[in-house]
Amino acid sequence: MDRLQSSARLMIVSDLDHTMVDHHDEENSSLLRFNALWEAHYRHDSLLVFSTGRSPTLYKQLRKEKPMITPDITIMSVGTEITYGKSMVPDDGWVQVLNQKWDKDIVIEETSKFPELTRQAETEQRPHKVSFYVKKDKAQQVTESLSKILEERGLDVKIIYSGGVDLDILPKGAGKGQALAYLHKKFVTEGKLPVNTLVCGDSGNDAELFSIPGVYGVMVSNAQEELLQWYAENAKDNPKILHASERCASGIIQAIGHFNLGPNQSPRDSPDDEQEPDFENVSPSHEIVNFVLLSEKWRRAEVENSEMFIAALKAVTLPSGFYIHPSGTEHNLKEYVNILRKVHGNKQGTQFRIWVDSVLAEQVGSDTWLVKFDKWESSGEERQGCVVTAILRKDSNWYTWMHVHQTWLEQSGHGEWII
Ligand code: GLC
Ligand code: MG
Repeated sequence: MDRLQSSARLMIVSDLDHTMVDHHDEENSSLLRFNALWEAHYRHDSLLVFSTGRSPTLYKQLRKEKPMITPDITIMSVGTEITYGKSMVPDDGWVQVLNQKWDKDIVIEETSKFPELTRQAETEQRPHKVSFYVKKDKAQQVTESLSKILEERGLDVKIIYSGGVDLDILPKGAGKGQALAYLHKKFVTEGKLPVNTLVCGDSGNDAELFSIPGVYGVMVSNAQEELLQWYAENAKDNPKILHASERCASGIIQAIGHFNLGPNQSPRDSPDDEQEPDFENVSPSHEIVNFVLLSEKWRRAEVENSEMFIAALKAVTLPSGFYIHPSGTEHNLKEYVNILRKVHGNKQGTQFRIWVDSVLAEQVGSDTWLVKFDKWESSGEERQGCVVTAILRKDSNWYTWMHVHQTWLEQSGHGEWII
């Protein structure tokens, strides 16, 4: 994590399914709220860690289905695989730790003797994770006998039951909690322990995250019975753990406010009557998030098509500045405003959304910033994304867009409608 020169202000370690990602929310509103908050106020000095039970295969699938931003660290397969950055560079040191007293073949041999266990898909069987489905009423008894048998065979394992259906067998030193403890230890060695850590979860495999010393924790409102039971038995008196009243990512935002960990007003929360472009004194990253959000509202006709709005847009774009569309066509920013004018409401009544990812602003002059980010537009199933490089100039209390260059992202479709 060389991006940060010093300790992260906040490290969020969040589970994905039913915590960061709400599978019952087709509009993905809470996830999009969180994304905008993170990119505007935290990305530059904080760390985002996703910690999921999913294998790399299923994790990548989820990224295609949902409007997710990119974490700094990805922990997959219930704390057995740790990777860094966008390119997901694996932590080989962690693999060494997990090899102790672990033999996957023995686990497979012994579990095959249990008719109550149904093997999960092959993608979910990993070097340090063997996974099954088991009915709720059988889970405890199977866990107890398996632990005994595997211990007798000389292994040191951990058996975790999640979501009232999944049973994972891992090396004892693995799991989401141990993976976080390993990261904390690494940060301490580098003298960069995050100032605050907030862990977020909803199910059994998240429980151990909450027992890592010093962390704040949020169980989202929709947390599973097994996690709430763990809490009642082990952590009831811990004031650093909150059972949120809001679901999924909204519960995470609620916890940021509850524990006073930093800004908790998502740019997506500004009330609908605040339809004017936001000229207040904001950071370049916040400016990017606001601007993109405004263009989403514009195309959904959630802001009125008015001359005043166009004039305001003109005021924050340098007329002679360049705008390069990912298709390669070049315009000046004055033309860009005219293009934008024509597309008002062209996504009205649809599921159209725009979100930005990995916003990085670098000051390149006394009043100029080079900002780089990924921008995604989705319309139902379709999705397009581009890398945007922009130069912004700070003029008294707003930013002027001087130059914008967009290039298709590798994973993106190449449609016409991105602007
Ligand atoms: C995810 C994984 C699955 C695991 C479950 C609980 O759903 O895909 O293999 O059993 O999380 O940890
Ligand atoms: Mg979950």
